[in-house]
Amino acid sequence: MAISSSSSYALTFFISYLLITQLGIANSQPVLNSVEQESVYRVLESLNSDVPWRSLFPDDLCSSAPHGVVCGYTTMPTETDPGTVNVLELSFGYVSDHNPNPPCGPNSTGFLDPLLFASFPYLQKLFFYNCFTQQPVSLQAFSRVGSFLEELVIVENPSLFGSLNESISNMKNLRRLVITGTNVSGEIPYGFGLLENLEEATLSRNRLAGTLPENMSKLKKLKILDLSQNGFEGNIPADIGGLQNLIKLDLGSNLFSGDFPASMKGLKCLELLDLSYNKFSNSGIPLFFSEMSKLKVMHLSGNELGGAIPDIWGKLRGISAIGFSGVGLVGNIPSSIGVFLSNLTYLALDNNKLIGGVPLEFGRLKLLNELNLKNNNLSGRLPFSAKFVSRLGGKLEVQGNPELCLDKRAFMSFTKVNRNLGHLKVCHSVENPKSALPNIISASSIGYKVPIGYQVPSLLVTFLWLFFI
Ligand SMILES: *[C@@H]1O[C@H](CO)[C@@H](O)[C@H](O)[C@H]1NC(C)=O
Ligand SMILES: *[C@@H]1O[C@H](CO)[C@@H](O)[C@H](O)[C@H]1NC(C)=O
Ligand SMILES: *[C@@H]1O[C@H](CO)[C@@H](O)[C@H](O)[C@H]1NC(C)=O
Ligand SMILES: *[C@@H]1O[C@H](CO)[C@@H](O)[C@H](O)[C@H]1NC(C)=O
Ligand SMILES: *[C@@H]1O[C@H](CO)[C@@H](O)[C@H](O)[C@H]1NC(C)=O
Ligand SMILES: *[C@@H]1O[C@H](CO)[C@@H](O)[C@H](O)[C@H]1NC(C)=O
Repeated sequence: MAISSSSSYALTFFISYLLITQLGIANSQPVLNSVEQESVYRVLESLNSDVPWRSLFPDDLCSSAPHGVVCGYTTMPTETDPGTVNVLELSFGYVSDHNPNPPCGPNSTGFLDPLLFASFPYLQKLFFYNCFTQQPVSLQAFSRVGSFLEELVIVENPSLFGSLNESISNMKNLRRLVITGTNVSGEIPYGFGLLENLEEATLSRNRLAGTLPENMSKLKKLKILDLSQNGFEGNIPADIGGLQNLIKLDLGSNLFSGDFPASMKGLKCLELLDLSYNKFSNSGIPLFFSEMSKLKVMHLSGNELGGAIPDIWGKLRGISAIGFSGVGLVGNIPSSIGVFLSNLTYLALDNNKLIGGVPLEFGRLKLLNELNLKNNNLSGRLPFSAKFVSRLGGKLEVQGNPELCLDKRAFMSFTKVNRNLGHLKVCHSVENPKSALPNIISASSIGYKVPIGYQVPSLLVTFLWLFFI
């Protein structure tokens, strides 16, 4: 008997059932009712007519079914009653050998009968991967799914179309809503904001559009909101700040505009913030972003935000990725990025209007493996050792900054690994690095032979400097 491992109550029932049968109380195993049995065949046949499902699985589908068809008890067995089983989960589309759901054929016709899914009143999970790729299938096919549904996961189904409002409003118990890589269009309906049990809403890569519903503050359990790569527009609604448990907010690659609402500082659990490639403008990078203190990833690239890079990094020490490409930044790069962000692995500041030097502290970023500074107006000595440069390899990009230079040894390893050389110069050995702290300049100008400053902890350099004054 296939029993859902994810629905613990079914498992509990199963165990009780085993106990009961061991004790010889109940004497027969319940079978799936004929309506659901027939409906499973019909779903399988419409997804893949090349497989003779009925002759491959002629018996009770709760005893012997293709992977992905999962039954469970909906009435507990007793001394006299074997209980009732129903279909709880249906997963289609071969994913991997670990997840060998019934494969969907290229000719899958979709579900001609809109009532088909009404025959599974206890369905908790519905999953389709790569099932609707040629024939258009309407999302409305799922509108009659019962209200027990907790997970609706539809991934890579380019010919699935329709709008959300017709389908999700009945699904009051939905925990996971994943519809990604489809032709689903229209707005997010108001009813979305009423799905109080929702923990994940991943609606990326569809043709959704319009503005976000005003009132989402009831989604207290929402942890993931991913609306990336659609055509959404308008402002981020202020009540987004009420999503106190949100961990991931991805609104990237849409047409959102306006300012970032200050209520976003209420997103205290947020770890990933991606607002890149929208039409946010002229708000700069707000200081209140520093209050989202759990942030690990912040992508704002491709918005004309302007302003300087704010000095907020002392409060955001867990950050590992910053994407600020092409956001119209001006001014200097604050050294606090290098001082505080010891977990930084990815930093993109390219295609801005940054000036001045690259802070000495950047040479200390031990985990950094991608740094893009190209097409700014940075100048002076790059504070990188040969080792640092060879670690980053082609992922160190500095071209398009005519006044930057690199020390000779680092330059040699740079030319070995990096074809994006641009016109990077070797620093004159006596040149005072513009970005360097005064202590470095002093230490070398008095002839004390220190290794290049970034290799020496700056406290030590400061000490040497004080000592020689
Ligand atoms: C798909 O349907 C077409 C026309 O009905 C048929 O010619 C083709 O052989 C079918 N392909 C598969 C893989 O079943
Ligand atoms: C998506 O929908 C549009 C319009 O509704 C249609 O023109 C297009 O062919 C559809 N794409 C796919 C892959 O079905
Ligand atoms: C669903 O949205 C579409 C357009 O987005 C609209 O035409 C239709 O009337 C809406 N249906 C319901 C039931 O609200
Ligand atoms: C949004 O929801 C809150 C709490 O449920 C309610 O107090 C408020 O009036 C709602 N606002 C709108 C505009 O519907
Ligand atoms: C850096 O990452 C490690 C490992 O993920 C984590 O334990 C540590 O707390 C992080 N440091 C900061 C300052 O957040
Ligand atoms: C780059 O900076 C220099 C000063 O360091 C300035 O003279 C020049 O105009 C700047 N160029 C651009 C394109 O901003």
